[in-house]
Amino acid sequence: MKYRRSIRKYQDRQISREDMETIIEAGTYAPNAGGGQRSIIVGIRNAFLAEKIGRLNVTRFDRSSLSGSYVSAEQPSIIDDPTMKSGFYGAPAICVVFAMKNFLYSIPDAFCCAENMVLMAAELGISSCIIARGEETFVGEIGAALLREWGIPENYIARCFVLLGYCEGEYPKGMRSTPMPGYSYGLPVPR
Ligand SMILES: Cc1cc2nc3c(=O)[nH]c(=O)nc-3n(C[C@H](O)[C@H](O)[C@H](O)COP(=O)(O)O)c2cc1C
Repeated sequence: MKYRRSIRKYQDRQISREDMETIIEAGTYAPNAGGGQRSIIVGIRNAFLAEKIGRLNVTRFDRSSLSGSYVSAEQPSIIDDPTMKSGFYGAPAICVVFAMKNFLYSIPDAFCCAENMVLMAAELGISSCIIARGEETFVGEIGAALLREWGIPENYIARCFVLLGYCEGEYPKGMRSTPMPGYSYGLPVPR
């Protein structure tokens, strides 16, 4: 958990099918509301298709409302660099996490899935980044055609993405987080 960072610079090298399946499996073990395991995860090991969807991911994103925000100097995001054309930063593999449209906890369920997946990726030495705007990405004819091709049920909607690949250049330094007051290395201080 301490090693994992959001990576936005990727090598061309593809991840293996076996690693992709292990990461998706980790998503299916995520905690989820009522234990219903309703999320659907689509894995894509195709850099061309990932780039195509990554461009759709920013098409409807109004970045002007976020001007002045800052995410990362080491791993700049689309907020830091408005010239970026893809929200997926050249990652060769992606997962799309779908959840039911009308289920109250479908968003937290999807992001719990994504968190399990990025932790498993870190365990496998694979870099990752969780990406938002699932809902907007597949609006439009190209997006709708992909959903049909993948057999996504009508009552499901994309909630988020997990980018996967190998970090290009230096891996970012450790987390900024410091332990909460009263805690030492994350363990409660004995009274
Ligand atoms: C709910 C959620 C949505 C996120 N959406 C995006 C996104 O759309 N684009 C992006 O580059 N990073 C996104 N991130 C990654 C965060 O920017 C990143 O986790 C944060 O800057 C902390 O950096 P770290 O993951 O390296 O610790 C998202 C993270 C979460 C938890």
